[in-house]
Amino acid sequence: MDYLNINKNAWNKRTKVHINSKFYDVKSFKNGESSLNNIELEQVGNVAGKKLLHLQCHFGQDTLSWARQGAKVTGVDLSTEAIEQANSLKLSLGLDADFIANDIYEFGNENVEKFDIVFTSYGVLCWLPDLSHWARIIANSLAIDGEFHLVEFHTFNDLLSGYSYFTQSEPDVEDEGTYTENCDGTKSKVVTWAHSLSEVINALIKAGLSIEHFNEYPYSPYNCFEGLEYVSKKGYQMLHKGQNVPLLYSIKARKIA
Ligand SMILES: C[S@@+](CC[C@H](N)C(=O)[O-])C[C@H]1O[C@@H](n2cnc3c(N)ncnc32)[C@H](O)[C@@H]1O
Repeated sequence: MDYLNINKNAWNKRTKVHINSKFYDVKSFKNGESSLNNIELEQVGNVAGKKLLHLQCHFGQDTLSWARQGAKVTGVDLSTEAIEQANSLKLSLGLDADFIANDIYEFGNENVEKFDIVFTSYGVLCWLPDLSHWARIIANSLAIDGEFHLVEFHTFNDLLSGYSYFTQSEPDVEDEGTYTENCDGTKSKVVTWAHSLSEVINALIKAGLSIEHFNEYPYSPYNCFEGLEYVSKKGYQMLHKGQNVPLLYSIKARKIA
């Protein structure tokens, strides 16, 4: 199964919808608002003058938000449509960024540049079949003392939605619409993989990275799952039998040698 082409087609289709969605609010972004959330802003800290690689950057709003904070950014994404939109945003805003349309594995196998920060966030790991290879790409892309930052949707919520928590030998193949409010007509085939928390953490450790922080959060900044409710000043939460479901987790790791 050509999972890369299947997912690329789906993300090309989704991007055309996302760019006009309230969810991504490109108008506010163009007017100067950052698309980054407090979790990653606090975790990553000051990026001024640093070389930052953004894996699975979608159409580049987060990448360009880091550029606005002074980082020298490179964004990589499989979707040619997303990279086209990212380049067009970059040009319209007069920002500096390198956007590369590629599979992260292929990019990683060829890349020789070293970065101070590798960043990736919100809905990225389920598209990747092999987390050991993913973690090696991160380690190889980092300069010594460089930092890796991940903010990801918590897999516990996938379990409650009827998906496997643990990795399975075969991926899930489904017809799925996208998560923005204007999602009509976006159904397309997607291929995804479950990755448990231990799989993510062990992949990073085995790639030689030193984990400095692991956090779980009961709130998400994004209204992109069924059953979420908004709590003022906190974000979206999900209750299961009256208790908070963990919706996000974050990891900071360092390349020490
Ligand atoms: C949910 S989005 C990332 C969300 C991002 N934080 C945002 O909202 O701007 C997932 C992205 O992963 C990209 N992607 C999926 N598989 C990939 C792969 N193998 N290599 C590179 N990018 C990939 C998709 O094209 C999509 O843009």
